[in-house]
Amino acid sequence: QRLGVLLSGRGSNFLNIADAIAANRLTGCEIACVISNIADAPGLHAARDLGLKTEAIVSKGVPRAEHDAKMVAALHQHGVDLVILAGYMRVLSPEFIRAFPDRILNIHPSLLPSFPGLHAQQQALEYGATIAGCTVHFVDEAVDHGVIVLQRAIPVLDADTAETLAKRILAEEHIAYPEAIQRVLSGRYTVEGRRYIAR
Ligand code: GRF
Repeated sequence: QRLGVLLSGRGSNFLNIADAIAANRLTGCEIACVISNIADAPGLHAARDLGLKTEAIVSKGVPRAEHDAKMVAALHQHGVDLVILAGYMRVLSPEFIRAFPDRILNIHPSLLPSFPGLHAQQQALEYGATIAGCTVHFVDEAVDHGVIVLQRAIPVLDADTAETLAKRILAEEHIAYPEAIQRVLSGRYTVEGRRYIAR
């Protein structure tokens, strides 16, 4: 199947997924394109260096509906089956989500439904959570809300700062995302209500 990766920043999750595919740890898929809304996103440069197809579809100053229509057109053009949000810092419009029903995954650096939105690791620290982690979920029309595919938890340490916690959560993200993608690609699951059930 053909993955379309969307990113806005450094792209460590993207690079980790690309590595997993190259090493056959993630099978049955290829990266069809990497698209960024930020023209000089480091992750987009990295994708280019890997020889992948890339597109910069700049969002600044463009109405969401218009920008998302361009994104959807590009994803279709590249024959994308599954959309992978990897640090894509824009909320998707309902039109975008309806164009790929149950075919968009996101990773978030908290144990949802705790701490949605920006700076999730900082939010967890400030709240005094003792367990943190990451969540891979299907994207629906509410932010950081869709059906959960997989979560990984780690303890918050007394000495943690937002930076040290984010770094340890990122290590978990790099385990979680390829595994979650593999599960979804296998098709061996059902969704009952909000519950993802592996078959
Ligand atoms: C990750 O923490 C991810 O959970 C969040 O954005 C960050 C992206 O990091 N959605 P990277 O660009 O993949 O390194």
